[in-house]
Amino acid sequence: MNINIENFKQLTDFDNILVCDEHGVIIFYDVVDLNVLKQIGLRPEDFMGKHITTFYKNLTNENSTIMRVIKKGVAVTNEKQELITNHGNVLLTVNSTYPIIENDRIVGAIEFSKHFYTKENIQSLDKLAHHKVYRRNNTYYTIDDIISINPKMEIIKNRIQKISRTNSTVLIYGKTGTGKEMIAQSIHNLSDRYGGPFLSVNCGAIPPNLLESTLFGTVKGSFTGSTDMPGLFEQAEGGTLFLDEVNSLDIYLQVKLLKAIEEKTIRRIGGNRNIPLNIRVISATNEDPDTLVSEKRLREDLYYRLGVVQIDLPPLIERKEDIESLLTYYIDFYNNNMNIVVEGVEDDVLECFKRYSWPGNIRELKNAVETAFNHTSLQRITMEDIPKRMREFNQSLPVKSNEHGSQSLKEAVEQYEKEMISKELTNMNGKITEAAKRLGISKQLLKYKIDKYQLS
Ligand SMILES: Nc1ncnc2c1ncn2[C@@H]1O[C@H](COP(=O)(O)OP(=O)(O)OP(=O)(O)O)[C@@H](O)[C@H]1O
Ligand SMILES: [Mg+2]
Repeated sequence: MNINIENFKQLTDFDNILVCDEHGVIIFYDVVDLNVLKQIGLRPEDFMGKHITTFYKNLTNENSTIMRVIKKGVAVTNEKQELITNHGNVLLTVNSTYPIIENDRIVGAIEFSKHFYTKENIQSLDKLAHHKVYRRNNTYYTIDDIISINPKMEIIKNRIQKISRTNSTVLIYGKTGTGKEMIAQSIHNLSDRYGGPFLSVNCGAIPPNLLESTLFGTVKGSFTGSTDMPGLFEQAEGGTLFLDEVNSLDIYLQVKLLKAIEEKTIRRIGGNRNIPLNIRVISATNEDPDTLVSEKRLREDLYYRLGVVQIDLPPLIERKEDIESLLTYYIDFYNNNMNIVVEGVEDDVLECFKRYSWPGNIRELKNAVETAFNHTSLQRITMEDIPKRMREFNQSLPVKSNEHGSQSLKEAVEQYEKEMISKELTNMNGKITEAAKRLGISKQLLKYKIDKYQLS
């Protein structure tokens, strides 16, 4: 047999291969490029045994390349087609379709397609794929990933546009899961430094002596077994160094850090050479900086140095208007990541999401949607699919007045009290003494109420 290698090269240029029987029912489907499936929102096995025209809104027996080839027995090559998925995504493909002929009878067709992406397609894939390969500087997030309609968050988004033009230090304060890392990466990606590295270190996760060498680097012979090693300050040259959980930093290291930022130089441990720095320092804390300073856990001079610009991220409970858009965003996100088609949530699920206290903030919401995707067998997420703690929280709240007759004064007061306590507990990281102080009640009474409303 005479094999023409050029034809084989052409075949590798296709993104998916599809074989149909004589009726147009798919009997084989394979993809080279997984993005094709993300665009269509289906798994390969979803195609099997179904008629080709069922997958696209605008595909008919008349305009489908497959159906025409089966009917006429003549190949169609390099034909452009615009397809609209049942989801409403528009795809542009170029198809080459050949009849399969056995004993002079057309028994089916084979189609090779190449998919073309419009600018909008690529932007949405990039956003939804959330994968490091999309950016070379070690980051996942840009300002466009910050979903919010809350006025405070809008102001923060405006501020980070301005902040990104300067080199000033930024201190981000927010409870767990409020988006501190997201903000830090967005500033980096908006700045001229975006081509440089974004290096992140969790000050609370590394023991102090190791953290010192990780940050400042070492020279050979400075202590047993030490080698010439640049620290993160040096490695972040031209980019951004993100000091996460800076509230956990040891006092000795706080002095060293202050000096490095003020003088814009460092010395490696055991070294005698001053190394100049061209980096931006962004830090984050999940504890209130004023409390840290008053409790002498954060040096005041370092606080002013780190927080030339301070961003306070509100917890999700203070931006309840974002819950619905975050929910829609993450349903879309997991539809694309898991190739499952979930259309939305039942009304009571939305209601429950809006009433929940969200101690884990946006991370918890994202995880709750992921949990629901793993449980749901329908196209709409039901109360059965969401995490148990959310269901229990919801059940412990008094029924809403508009649903079940009018609410008594006692019930309304209890509901208000419960929401206030749960909000303060979230604000104070679950610390009962502090929450009681802020609520103006005794610790004992607060404990009693936590028990009563099952808030622990
Ligand atoms: N405004 C937002 N829009 C969409 N997703 C968000 C938003 N804020 C946070 N997230 C998502 O929530 C998760 C937690 O965000 P991030 O890691 O930035 O929080 P964090 O404040 O650094 O949390 P921790 O204190 O626990 O480190 C991430 O998956 C992020 O994508
Ligand atoms: Mg973080």
